Amino acid sequence: MFVNRVKEIAWLEQLSLALASGKGMSCALLGLRRIGKTELMLNFRKNHTNENVLMPYLNIQSSMSSPMRFCLDFVHSLLESVCMHQNIKIVYKQSIKMDLPVIAGRLNDDIYDQVILLMTTLDTGEYDEALRITFKLPEMIANLFNIKVLYFIDEFQELHDLKHYKIDPYALMRTVTEKQIHTKYVVSGSIISLMEEIFKDANQPFFNQFNMLYLSPLTEEDSTILATHIWNYDSLSVNDNAFAMVYKLTHGHPFYIVAICERAFFEARFNDAIIDQKLVEYAFIREVMSHDGKLNTLFEYIFNYSISKVERKGALKQPLLILADEDGLTLSEIAKKVNKLSGHLSNLMKSLLKSDLIIKNDKRYYFRDQVLRFWLAKTSLGKSHDMISDTEIAENFISDLKERYLKKSSEYGRAKEFELYYFINENQGQSICGVKNSNV
Ligand SMILES: Nc1ncnc2c1ncn2[C@@H]1O[C@H](COP(=O)(O)OP(=O)(O)OP(=O)(O)O)[C@@H](O)[C@H]1O
Ligand SMILES: [Mg+2]
Repeated sequence: MFVNRVKEIAWLEQLSLALASGKGMSCALLGLRRIGKTELMLNFRKNHTNENVLMPYLNIQSSMSSPMRFCLDFVHSLLESVCMHQNIKIVYKQSIKMDLPVIAGRLNDDIYDQVILLMTTLDTGEYDEALRITFKLPEMIANLFNIKVLYFIDEFQELHDLKHYKIDPYALMRTVTEKQIHTKYVVSGSIISLMEEIFKDANQPFFNQFNMLYLSPLTEEDSTILATHIWNYDSLSVNDNAFAMVYKLTHGHPFYIVAICERAFFEARFNDAIIDQKLVEYAFIREVMSHDGKLNTLFEYIFNYSISKVERKGALKQPLLILADEDGLTLSEIAKKVNKLSGHLSNLMKSLLKSDLIIKNDKRYYFRDQVLRFWLAKTSLGKSHDMISDTEIAENFISDLKERYLKKSSEYGRAKEFELYYFINENQGQSICGVKNSNV
């Protein structure tokens, strides 16, 4: 089920309308990991098919191994959507490199010539020229078929990696595309600080060239709509307080909502098929803390990825953990806590801002994502902060669950018994919602 994003969809509709009359400005979607950027792009493409506008889609994350890979993937997605538009059925026989000339040949002689030119240019290693040919192709196709092209590029900030080949992909793309009137782009990126640098830094080629749309978390109302959809089973009974707790714990982040609601659904069989706020708290703790939690896995990935991108990784941990414990601190407040001079810490904080984990607002530093902050505080500091205020509820639920589980264990077999005890033992000694597990 796709919830809300009404404002963003209206924006994309306007862009496609403007494009139809040779106007409009390309657009960049920015937002936290898993906030719904890809979902929005795919949903828009699915529900706004327009025979006058081609909407190729490419996630370039897997295309960044070389300029060759990127150019081939870019052209392939484009030609695939032209074929669909022209009702040409394509049968893939070999690799993209082998198939592309065949597909191009079926479309048009000029396109075929460009594809062959691209291949030979790539083979000679003239990557600047290859990128120019690649970015010219959408406009050429628009002119040939009298259509418009709205190209969706996901994980746009990854294009940066082509700089390893001594080319500036953004400068090249800007030079070729800025005067195109039949082609516009909708790009998205998860590394917000990097995306902001691309589009907001006056020294960068794309400065002020794209409209920027920030995807925010869902409202409480939309969070409830999503949870209601996930829990829509006759056999389940859902208390109203469960919905409020989902919103409170997830801050409206759609992926967190889905993960926690699904976990609560599976755990509901131990709670007499009732989903209440205690069960939601328990589902949250399991998702964030346990080895099989989807949020735990996601946060580990985000944390390692973010830190891998910046310098002086080792030294960053200390200020990061200070902020995980208490965010909203100023530079001098953090410096005092880590026992460093403000001047020295200032460089570390710059690296942390680059990691994208932290933002600075009014001279104070905050975690970009409060749920990730909670995870870091729990896993690395073993401390809790006041994210869950009524701490006893989760503790009681786990006690109840254990008691009820022991009664029902014969029904569910040894596997579940092992799983539950593994979880409890695994977290032994760490606090859950501020209460030591060993009390359970
Ligand atoms: N508008 C929405 N309605 C319902 N569910 C959503 C919505 N947006 C996102 N989700 C849920 O969150 C998940 C993550 O969404 P998506 O993959 O689009 O995030 P993303 O921002 O592209 O993530 P990444 O930064 O990792 O690329 C989806 O699979 C879906 O379960
Ligand atoms: Mg995505």
